[in-house]
Amino acid sequence: MLQDPKFISPPLLEIKGLRASFRGSNGYAEAVRGIDLTLQPGKVLGIVGESGSGKSVSMMALLQLLPAGSLVTGSAKFGGRELVAWHRAISAAFAASRSG
Ligand SMILES: Nc1ncnc2c1ncn2[C@@H]1O[C@H](COP(=O)(O)OP(=O)(O)OP(=O)(O)O)[C@@H](O)[C@H]1O
Ligand SMILES: [Mg+2]
Repeated sequence: MLQDPKFISPPLLEIKGLRASFRGSNGYAEAVRGIDLTLQPGKVLGIVGESGSGKSVSMMALLQLLPAGSLVTGSAKFGGRELVAWHRAISAAFAASRSG
């Protein structure tokens, strides 16, 4: 009964295969290498990991707060709205303006 789809609300946040890289002198360095998580409305999710494991970078990627030129791929939907595609478009435009 509780597994019935009409009783399950859509996720508030759904992250699939999120990756984030920073541009360095030897190309891109990958700081986040594919995370998946789902957060249901009204729930609280704690993210735990060693220092430098990418907790802050993952969340800053969602908030579009990484430095210009950083590369974010994968998917993160907040309330059904895709957040990553937008960031990718900005990054691509920035890269094109630098190389052109
Ligand atoms: N602006 C940046 N440019 C290049 N590398 C970065 C940048 N910001 C973070 N990094 C690198 O990304 C990796 C992940 O860092 P992050 O800050 O997400 O770790 P964290 O899990 O939040 O660590 P902590 O528990 O210490 O807060 C680290 O290797 C860090 O050095
Ligand atoms: Mg941190």
